[in-house]
Amino acid sequence: MRIAVIHGPNLRLLGKREPEVYGRATLADVDAALEGLARELDVEVESFQSNHEGEILDFLEQAAPRVDGFVINPGAFTHTSIALRDGLTGVSRPFVECHLSNTQSREPFRQHSYLSPVARGVVFGFGLQSYLLALRGLVTVLREKKNA
Ligand code: DQA
Repeated sequence: MRIAVIHGPNLRLLGKREPEVYGRATLADVDAALEGLARELDVEVESFQSNHEGEILDFLEQAAPRVDGFVINPGAFTHTSIALRDGLTGVSRPFVECHLSNTQSREPFRQHSYLSPVARGVVFGFGLQSYLLALRGLVTVLREKKNA
């Protein structure tokens, strides 16, 4: 089983960016933790970061044939991008939306997600652990589906 993890805009700045909100873990720390969990779960992960909406859409299309699902932290595109929602539904792969921060406890504009209604699940508020919980959840539902 292979999962692609997508990090949206500004997530390359993790560790330096508003650490009181997003924590001190860097993007490399997040990817290393995902690799470790993937080994434990006996799955493969690949990770992709972009600040550009179109590049994320291109990646989705290119990666979909080789992966079983996606974990995505869409960053601010969560709250703005109908194109990203259409791209995710268009590739017909389950995805889990995740966020480091508790978006529901923040500014009103962060409380709406274009993606949540079409996500298989959503995890937010646990810092780096949000990604790990998202990966665990996605692998669990994919395995359940395979064994059904
Ligand atoms: C975020 C929350 C978004 O509102 C914000 O724009 C981000 C990060 C999070 O991980 O908490 O860039 O997705």
